[in-house]
Formats: sequence, C-alpha cells, structure tokens
Amino acid sequence: MLDPFPASAAVEGDELSIGGVGSTVLADEFGTPVVVYCERTLLGAARAYLRAAPGALVAYSVKAFPSVALLRLFSAEGLGADVSTLGELEYATRAGIPGERIIMHGNNKSDEELRTAARADVALVVLDALDEVERAAEAGVRRVLVRVTPGIEADTHAAIRTAHHGSKFGLPPEQALGAIERARDAGLEPVGLHVHIGSQLLDTQAARSSVDWLAGFAADCRRELEWMPEVIDLGGGLGIQYVADEAPPAIEDFVASLRERLEHEWGLHGLPAPRLVLEPGRSLVGRAGVTLYRVGVVKEASESLTYVAVDGGMSDNPRPQLYGARYTALLANRANADVDGGYAVCGKHCESGDVLIERVRLPRPRRGDVLAVPGTGAYTLGMGSNYNGVPRPGAVLVGDGKARLIRRRETLDDLLSLEA
Ligand code: LLP
Repeated sequence: MLDPFPASAAVEGDELSIGGVGSTVLADEFGTPVVVYCERTLLGAARAYLRAAPGALVAYSVKAFPSVALLRLFSAEGLGADVSTLGELEYATRAGIPGERIIMHGNNKSDEELRTAARADVALVVLDALDEVERAAEAGVRRVLVRVTPGIEADTHAAIRTAHHGSKFGLPPEQALGAIERARDAGLEPVGLHVHIGSQLLDTQAARSSVDWLAGFAADCRRELEWMPEVIDLGGGLGIQYVADEAPPAIEDFVASLRERLEHEWGLHGLPAPRLVLEPGRSLVGRAGVTLYRVGVVKEASESLTYVAVDGGMSDNPRPQLYGARYTALLANRANADVDGGYAVCGKHCESGDVLIERVRLPRPRRGDVLAVPGTGAYTLGMGSNYNGVPRPGAVLVGDGKARLIRRRETLDDLLSLEA
C-alpha cells in the first residue's frame, strides 16, 4: 500500500504520517493542497547517486522542482545543478551552488542567459545549436559540451523523448562534429559530449544503447577531428514508481549499468576514460513528494462512477492531462478503513479533463478527509499554473517529526499583484 510513498511514510493508528508528522497535522497547519517532501528520501536518492558514481558530477535537474531549500540540501551533499534558463540558474546561485557544479542547458539560450552563465563561471555550457557557438564565445563562455542526438527512441511518453531523429534538442551527429570544430575555431574549449534520451525511463535498455552509440561517435570524433571527449554527460531520465504495476530499476543499478557500458565500450574503442556527469531530476525528488488534498464534493455521476473532488487539480499537477500520467492515492486520515470501491479523483478546475486519477480503490471518502497522492515531488508544482485564478500550493520539508515550510502558498494578492 505504501510502495510509491516516501521512505519515512508510515501508518500510525489510522493515519498516514510522513517524516514522523501526521498528515492531518500537516494539512491543518499548512493548509491544502500542500506538497510534503520527505528529507530522508531526498537524501537517500542523492547519496545513492553519489555512491553509484564516485568522482562523477551529479547535477540535480532543477526543472523537476525549482527550490532553493532542496538545492541547499543537495549542495551540502556535494551535488550540483543542471539549469536551462536564467530563472533556474538564479535558483542555483541563490542556493549557493558554486559555478563549478552548474551546467547550463537550453535549446534556445538568449545572449543574456549565455552572459549570465559565463559571469557565474558555470562549469559547462551545453551547446544545442550551431549559431550558439559564436554567441557563447562572444558572451565569455569557455568550457562547453556539445549535445548530440543519437536517433534513439526511448520507451516513454512521446512528449518526453528527446534523442529521436527530428528532436528539437541537440544536434544530429554530422552537425555535432561541425559544432566541435567551430567551437575550437571560436576559441571555446569543447570538453565533451552530452546526451539525454528521455524521461521516466523504466528500464536501462535505451540508456545503455545511447552509451554504446556515444562510444562509436567519440571514435568518429577522434578520427575526423583528432578530438576526444574528456567529459560525458548522460543527462537524467531514470523513472520512479507511480502506480503498483511500474518497477523502475534502483538508482544504484541504473547507474551501475551505465558505467559498465561506458567502461566496456570506451575500452573497445581504446578511448581514455571520461569524467561522468549525470543530471537526475525526477529520480531525486519525485518519490520524496506527496500532495495532500482536502476532499470536498463526493458525487455519484453514474452507477459505476463516483467522483471525489479535491481542492486542487491540474493547477498543481498537470501531468495526467499532459502525459496521461497515472497516480494512486490513500485516504490519509482513515488509512486503515475498509476499502469500499473504486473512485475517480477529480480537481476543482473547469474542465472535464481535470481528473487526477481515473480509478483508485478507497474507503468511502467524506468531505473533510485528507487525500494523499504520492509520487508528486517532480514536475508537479514546477509545472503548475494559476488556471481558474487558483493560487498554487506551498511545499513543506519533513523529517524527524518536524515540518518546515520551504515554499509558501500563493495568495490571491500574489495573483492580483501582477495586474497593471
Ligand atoms: N537533463 C536534461 C537535459 C533534461 O532535459 C532533463 C529533463 C533532465 C536532465 C532530467 O530528467 P529526469 O531525470 O527528470 O527524467 N515534465 C515531464 C518531464 C520532462 C523532462 C524534461 N527534461 C514530466 O512531467 O514527465
């Protein structure tokens, strides 16, 4: 029952607790909806990456959930940050992440973004287009990676595949070779290659193939340009379990299989061992987050369909609409009550598509109950909106029986403060 929940989740008495704090206490104190992050799960994931890839730069992909508090927590463990906009770069620098642990991405970087990255002395800027070469040099950037698209179709939702032929990201191999050459001519220091094949990967196959492919490409680079990558950035992508029938590999196993391929293939081509960079997002923060909602209307729409409406929805989690994402839920304040049937969990927004969960088995929900949706630590609040004039929820960090607000809930005044 608690599988997709964070490591510290427990049912005590009749109630779900996270980090030793009861869910009704959290809901009462911080209001609902609220995204609760389990510190133990965050640290567990960060340390798993560090253990599995000693010497590698593990850069948290800030887009999964931009949060200064989380970045500080990760930074203290030695992680860096992968950022793709001025805004994400600002989160990383405000959290005190040193430039030497920041990687700047973006498929359409502005001159301002390039200049700010150069001023922050970021470790690497990842070139994603040919015209970026001279613009990066002009902006004062020095060390760069070239992002290459191997033409691999990762087994995940089409919207989050990134390495297929025709992707808007990266450069096809021929152009990537050209970019390396142009980077050298422009006075940049091309130090390596980047590849990110997609997100929410539930096995290691596509990621391993991309390493094999990269080794071949690195050998082409040596032959054609007398250049070899010192750095290999394999992006992010490891998935998490959202519902019972998903079983992603453990972080240690995923990273070990990539490193094993890397060593093997680099050896075959006689290439010198590169420094590894990883950019996990979802697998660092996804499982750590649980959204607590308050149940409002319970409506029998037909004999076989009863809606449980919660006080949030697509404004705090648009993933069901965008990717057909599936979630599960637990009635947090009556976690041991007998299940009495299947319910659809819908939000409060003015769209029929605002359904968070099509069907989940629950005890009969009542107005005022707290509903906990696990697996909501990544790409939920960060992709939220103010649709229907709904302020976005806050976020709380829990551990050792204590809860700390890390992002306050928006107010109506926040929304209206933007009006001219
Ligand atoms: N590196 C690069 C260059 C990326 O584009 C991404 C994600 C990551 C790292 C981190 O990937 P992760 O470890 O989180 O899979 N909004 C979608 C996911 C979009 C991912 C975009 N890029 C979702 O909710 O499923």
